[in-house]
Formats: sequence, structure tokens, C-alpha cells
Amino acid sequence: MSASSGHDEAERAALRAEGRWAALSVIIVCLLTLMAGFAGIHELIMPQARVETVDVRTVPFKGEFVESNLGSAVAADGSVTVRMVTQQYSFNPPCLLVPVETPVTLRSTSIDVVHGLIIDGTNINTMLVPGFVSVAQTRFHETGDHRMPCQEFCGVGHQGMWAMVRVIPREQFMKMAADKPRLSCAD
Ligand code: CUA
Repeated sequence: MSASSGHDEAERAALRAEGRWAALSVIIVCLLTLMAGFAGIHELIMPQARVETVDVRTVPFKGEFVESNLGSAVAADGSVTVRMVTQQYSFNPPCLLVPVETPVTLRSTSIDVVHGLIIDGTNINTMLVPGFVSVAQTRFHETGDHRMPCQEFCGVGHQGMWAMVRVIPREQFMKMAADKPRLSCAD
């Protein structure tokens, strides 16, 4: 065996190895593309996992969003859940009462068109879509009032659609909650 044929042999072996690795990387790229395609199509055709729906025709009359269940309620773990319904052009209740330094979950829906809500000085900014429950969570670090305007154009009365959020001391809130299961500052 001459020196040059040994050299050719090594070069061929290197080329074969190179070819195998190139094929492997092409297979990996194809596999990733297939997975991304599958995940994308799957997400498109399946409903989102955490979407909660309500029957928009019966919202005011039965279930979670009946009038008597609206407002702030203390949950078993000491957090507060606020339930609210929107319609052209108001929030019900129009003034939400919550305690300071407490986890607050806001559950709301719309009974007519798409509305939105944004709470001044907080991370809450959500859409309210008829037939769906919007869930937003926050915690207020100071007592005081926040404005809560509708942030989605919903008709001629849109700019007049807004509500308030009033943050009060936790002891005061809990004392009120002991007498009344659903609280708001509207009454
Ligand atoms: Cu409701 Cu804009």
C-alpha cells in the first residue's frame, strides 16, 4: 500500500463520516420542523386549555355571575375573589372593594359586546368577551382608590364607562366580610 492510497482511504472514511453527520443533522432539522408544524396546527384546531365559558343568555339569572354573587368574597385560603359583570355602559358593581396586601382574583364577563378593563397603577389589563370568564390576579400594596376604565371601544357610551377600585385595610375589610358575604363600595 502506497502512502498516497492510504491517504485516499483516510479521505474517503472522513467523507463517509461527514456524510453520515450531515444526514443526521438534516434528519434532526426535519424532525424539529415536523414537531413545530404539529404543535402549531394542534394549537390552532384545539380550544385553549384554561378557557372558562359561561352561557351569555343566562349569566344574570343563574350560576356564578348572578346579582347576589357579585362583588368581593373571601375565599377559604384568605384570598379575595371579586366577581363582576359588564354591559353597555357599566360595570356591576361599579365600585370594587378589596383589602390591601391580599391576593385578589378578579373574575369577570360581559353580557353584550366586548369590553375591556384596566386598573390604574396595576398589572391588570384584560378583555371581557361575552361567553367567556376573564381571570386576572393582582395584589394591592397601598390603600386608596384606583380608576378602572373600559379600555375597549364598545359603542357610543364607551368613554363614559368606568368604575372604581377601593383598597382598604385588611382588618376593616375582614370585619365587613364577616357581616356580609359579598362586598362592594357601591352601596
Ligand atoms: Cu365598554 Cu368601552
